[in-house]
Amino acid sequence: MFENNLNSENCFDLYETSFVPEQEITTGSNYMFGNGYMGYRGTHPDATKENYAACIVTDTYDNADGKWQELCNVPNGLYLDIVVNGQKVSAFGDSLSHYKRRIDIETAKLTNEFSTDDVAISVERFASMDQIHILSMRLVLRAKQTCDVVVTTGINGDVWSINGEHFSEYNLSEVNGGLLMHSVTKELHTDIYVAEKAVFQCGAEVKENIDIGDKQVFRKVAAKLTPETPLVLEKFVAIYSSNDTDNPKELALDNLASVQKDGYQNAAEKHDIRWQALWDKYDIKIAGNDRDQTLTRFNLYHNIIHTPTHALLPIGARGLSCQAYQGAAFWDQEVFNLPMYLYTDPEIARNVLRYRYETLNGARRKARKLGYRGAFYAWISGKTGDELCPDFFFKDIVSGRKIRNHFNCWQIHVSPDVAYTIWKYYEVTGDKEFLHQYGAEMMLDISLFLLSRSFYNVDKDRYEYIRLLGPDEYHENVDNNIFTNYQARYTLQKTIEVYEQLTKENPSQLAALMNKLDISEETVNTFRHMIEKMYIQPINENGVIEQFDGYFGLEDVTPEELATRLIDKAEYWGWPNGVAVHTQVLKQADLVQLFVMHDDFDEDVVKANFDYYEPRTEHGSSLSPAMHSVIASKIGYDDFAYRYFVKSCTVDLYNTNKAISGGTFIGGIHTASCGAVWQMVVFGFAGFSVSDDTLHFKPALPAEWDECSFRVNHKANIVDVKMSRECIVLEGHKQNMAALRIDIGGHGMMLEPGQSVSR
Ligand code: BGC
Repeated sequence: MFENNLNSENCFDLYETSFVPEQEITTGSNYMFGNGYMGYRGTHPDATKENYAACIVTDTYDNADGKWQELCNVPNGLYLDIVVNGQKVSAFGDSLSHYKRRIDIETAKLTNEFSTDDVAISVERFASMDQIHILSMRLVLRAKQTCDVVVTTGINGDVWSINGEHFSEYNLSEVNGGLLMHSVTKELHTDIYVAEKAVFQCGAEVKENIDIGDKQVFRKVAAKLTPETPLVLEKFVAIYSSNDTDNPKELALDNLASVQKDGYQNAAEKHDIRWQALWDKYDIKIAGNDRDQTLTRFNLYHNIIHTPTHALLPIGARGLSCQAYQGAAFWDQEVFNLPMYLYTDPEIARNVLRYRYETLNGARRKARKLGYRGAFYAWISGKTGDELCPDFFFKDIVSGRKIRNHFNCWQIHVSPDVAYTIWKYYEVTGDKEFLHQYGAEMMLDISLFLLSRSFYNVDKDRYEYIRLLGPDEYHENVDNNIFTNYQARYTLQKTIEVYEQLTKENPSQLAALMNKLDISEETVNTFRHMIEKMYIQPINENGVIEQFDGYFGLEDVTPEELATRLIDKAEYWGWPNGVAVHTQVLKQADLVQLFVMHDDFDEDVVKANFDYYEPRTEHGSSLSPAMHSVIASKIGYDDFAYRYFVKSCTVDLYNTNKAISGGTFIGGIHTASCGAVWQMVVFGFAGFSVSDDTLHFKPALPAEWDECSFRVNHKANIVDVKMSRECIVLEGHKQNMAALRIDIGGHGMMLEPGQSVSR
């Protein structure tokens, strides 16, 4: 048993044998299942909105109460209620003789087992990875002695919604022996169809009737069961919205009929095969530490199930685990979720970057609205890329007044972060077609924005960025945040590289692009000038870089000391008058983040900055610990690296982060830290990086592990990596198209297809 009521049978699952009501929101997220199209919270089968039951579906953005758009929690097609001898039997009731909730991470199936003196019940549920619109459920109910059982199942439209009711109408019907609910969203009038069909098997006589209410359509099945006549219910639910297709109703019914014909067993097998293929690409195997193996897989699992691969849609900061953060992308998407895909399954990274291309117009609208040229990507980006982040995000919970946060207008690093990832994608795949067809336009337009937003300081003959928010959100309205300036310069450099490539290789395409974006030769020369004259904070005599102008002059105090100044534990630490604003205490460390993304600082500088900033970082963001782990590994701070690894992996499992901050609900799965597990192991412990087409490894395996293995993909060549503390072995796949240049701890070698090298 690990901490916090967690157990694992095989390091590919998590289970609990007692229910902790105080952690209901968090465990509902942790135990969830999903397939990138939808996320179904891992609540109990008979959970309702009071227990935060939810099925969140991609591409259902809607504004319920005028506050903001968010994804809808659609009507619950897996609703279940069981009554035995006139008494409700709840999967998380007080009087159970057996209780187990288990998420099988390997096959993304949730099982609930619960028993009373009269009955033993097991419910398995999953969201098919083979048919992404389908949810499946299998209930087995065994009587221990003869008893009267009534099972109610169907579609429940009365759902949990954090910002008001999303549906204006519900049309309920019975179609071909199945149940159908059509609901329409209030703002954008999106049609959502949930179709359900259930089949019962039972040795005893079963009485069935359908009950249609205002927001519910249920079937009730009653039987007198004996120990010899268990009741087995198998059901499927199909979900489609009018954003998925022009004929959602027909597709829901057809999809349902075909999966029903195939049967539950076949559907489960096809789903398992899909998952096996995913684990072949993404799994990280750890020998010698079962807890860490399980934690790692838990985080990889969540990075997978929250990534929409079926359409050009964002990866939400809380994924599909709930409506918090609106099911929308932040910079987290490029910097935290995508690296795993970039180096294992670049097609997925391409798809997500295509989403950024499709939303360029939203980024342009945002720039125009604020008086700039080019593309300023939204801080919170939904379907169209228009800014979803409201001006007033948090509340001063002491005074009750709203806080004007400037995430939406001053946190400009999101645009260069997108450009940075486009370039990384190009570096690791060599996909010039993507770079020229999509990347070039995004990069040129982002550079135009960076020019438009910059300030040329004539006296100092340098370009600056003033009035900013860097990743460290506790300090708003700062000038020359090092992370932002550095990322901006990098973007401009790479934009010039693309520009020069196109000048040579496709001048007509370039001319069309320049015309479309209204960029002149002179503007391109200004980009060059900016690269040369961009102000990058200097390294001081102690090797430390100031995070932004004037930071060193702020009060120097520890996060622990600062915490004692809070009036209320839930108050916001940042702008305009939170406890951290006038101090050096950081929410997340911009320099540590910068070092993860840019390998061009000397190790003693990285160390000096880590030593300076780490004790001043509060880790108020779940993004922070993972980056500390990666950098600690690189500088030989093995204890720190491991400690931060565990901290980051358990953000959700140990329920360590605030679910409410400044009065706003921000609970749910922290998909950025989930994605970052891959970076901690591969970039951190294995010391992996790619430069000039060479794969570098500098292993620093935690003392707590015996062995670790994973797979990377470089330009469609696959390498299996296995490392222990003594040695690292790399194996090139037989199908690889070329020999790969490898560097292990400074020793160069070639890895031929089908061969292995070690050191
Ligand atoms: C972090 C941001 C992050 C956002 C969404 C905030 O708490 O400070 O960096 O993008 O959460 O995860």
